[in-house]
Amino acid sequence: MASRGRLGRTPRVILALHMSGDSHKTFYLETFGCQMNVHDSEKVIGTLVNEGYRQVQTVEEAGLVLYNTCSIRDKAEQKVFNRLNDYKKYQKQGKKFGVLGCVAQQEGEKIFERAPWVSLVCGSASYRNLPQMLAQLEAGSRKPETEFQSQRAEPGSPRSDDRGLVRITGLDDRETDACFETEFTARTNPHRGYITIIEGCDKFCAYCVVPFTRGKERSRTSESVLAEARQMADLGYTEIQLLGQNVNSYKDSAGKRSFAEVLAAVGEVPGIRRVRFTTSHPRDFGRDIIHAIDAVPTLCDHVHLPVQSGSDRVLNAMQRLYTREQYLERIAWMKAAKREISITSDVIVGFPGETEEDFAQTLSLLDEVGYDAVFAFKYSPRPNTPSLALEDAIPDEEKARRLEVLMARQRQIQIARYKRYIGTICEVMVEGRNAARAQWMGRTSHNKTLNFTAPEGAAPRVGTYVPVMATISFPNSLLGELVI
Ligand code: SAH
Ligand code: SF4
Ligand code: F3S
Repeated sequence: MASRGRLGRTPRVILALHMSGDSHKTFYLETFGCQMNVHDSEKVIGTLVNEGYRQVQTVEEAGLVLYNTCSIRDKAEQKVFNRLNDYKKYQKQGKKFGVLGCVAQQEGEKIFERAPWVSLVCGSASYRNLPQMLAQLEAGSRKPETEFQSQRAEPGSPRSDDRGLVRITGLDDRETDACFETEFTARTNPHRGYITIIEGCDKFCAYCVVPFTRGKERSRTSESVLAEARQMADLGYTEIQLLGQNVNSYKDSAGKRSFAEVLAAVGEVPGIRRVRFTTSHPRDFGRDIIHAIDAVPTLCDHVHLPVQSGSDRVLNAMQRLYTREQYLERIAWMKAAKREISITSDVIVGFPGETEEDFAQTLSLLDEVGYDAVFAFKYSPRPNTPSLALEDAIPDEEKARRLEVLMARQRQIQIARYKRYIGTICEVMVEGRNAARAQWMGRTSHNKTLNFTAPEGAAPRVGTYVPVMATISFPNSLLGELVI
C-alpha cells in the first residue's frame, strides 16, 4: 500500500456544487500520511463543504486551518508540534486551528497544552461527529462539557481554559464500532477514487501505532460499499481502490460477503474497469482472493503484500503472525494465477535484535519473490507500541547501511523485471500529460508507470484506456509508444 506515511496530496474540491458554500467560512487543509488519510481528507472536505465552508489553498486566506496528521514513524509528533508553532503567529488574526488524524488521536489533549491556539483535536474514529464539532467551534463554545468533549476526557480535565480558549475533542477510543460514512466525499480525481471498506486494525504488530491511532477493526456492509461503487460508476469513475489497513480482515457487518466476494462484486459493477485493494496482511490473505482475480478481469493483477522481514525470528518478534514459509506459500498462489500478478511489499530494517543473518534472510527473500517494488523503512520506535519496551540497539548508521544495501539489491531485481516488458503491449489508463517531456503519463493494471509518446493528431484523453508498446525500461517505470 502507499500506506507508508508519505506525504499525501490535499484533495481540492472540484465539483461546482461545492463552491456554493457560505463564502466567509473558509478552511485550509493539509494532509500527511497514507491513502486512508488522503481519502479521509476527501471525506472531511466534503463534510465541511456541506456545512457551508469553502476550501482555500493558503493558510492566509483561511478562517479554519486543519492539519491531517500521520504518526507512523520518525518522531512524527515533534514534526506536528513544529508545524503548529509555525501557525501560532496567525492566532492574532482570529484563525482557528484543528489537528486531525493519527497524531491527534495519539497525543490527544496534550496538543492543547503544547499548542494552546489549537481548538479542535480529532482522531479518525470521530470524524462522523465533525458537523457537530464544527457547530461548537463556530459557537465558540465555552460550555464546560459537551457530548463530544466528554467522550474520552478524564473527569475534571479542562474543556475551556481560563482564557476562554475553545477546546473541542473527538477522541473516540478503540472501542467504537462506527465507520465514517458520508455521501459528501470530495474526490480529487474524476476517473479513479478510493472507497474505505474497513477501518482500524486489530493486529498490533509490535512496532506499529495504527491500532492505537485508528481504533479497532470495523467493516462497512458490502451493500453500502457496492452502493458507493455503483454511484461512482454512474459519475464516470472507472477505477476504484478499496482501502483498509488490513483489507483481508474485512467482515461484512451484514454477514453477506467475504472480502474476495466484495472485491469480485465491485469488479462486476458496470462501468468499472479497474479495481485495486490495499493493504493486505499475509496472515489473512486467502487463496479466494487469487481465485477472484482469476475470475474477474477488472480486478488488477497487482497485490501489495507487506512482508516486513524474511527472518522467522524477526517476524515472531514483530508479532506478524506468519512465518517466512507461510508468506512464500501466498506468493506461490499468486505465481500460479492465470495472469501474471505483480507483487510489491514493505520491509522494515533494523528492528530490535535484527542480526546480520536475519537481514541476509530478508535479502534472500527479495530474490526469491522478485518484487516489482519494495518500500523499505528504518525501524522507528513509536509511542504505545509493544516494541518500545525493546532496546532500539541498532545504531542509525547501521540501519541506514542495511536500508541502502536492501534498496540496491531491489534496484537490480527491478531492472531485470522491468526489462521483460520491452516489446510488449500493455493497456494503460491515461493519467495526464508531461508537457516538458512531450509524454503522456500512463499506469498499467500491474500498477506500473508506463509513460508514452503519441503522434500528433492521436492525443489520448486523460482517463481513457489505450494500448501502449513498451520500448525502454527503467528501474521504476517504462517508456513506450501509443499503439494506433
Ligand atoms: N496496514 C499495513 C500498513 C501499515 S503502515 C500493513 O500491515 O502492512 C505502512 C508500513 O509502514 C508498514 O508496512 C511498515 O513497513 C512501516 N512501518 C510501520 N510502523 C513502522 C515503524 N515503527 N518503523 C518503521 N516502519 C514502520
Ligand atoms: Fe500496523 Fe500491523 Fe495493523 Fe499493518 S497490520 S496497520 S503494520 S498493526
Ligand atoms: Fe500514518 Fe495513520 Fe496512515 S499513522 S500511515 S496516517 S494510518
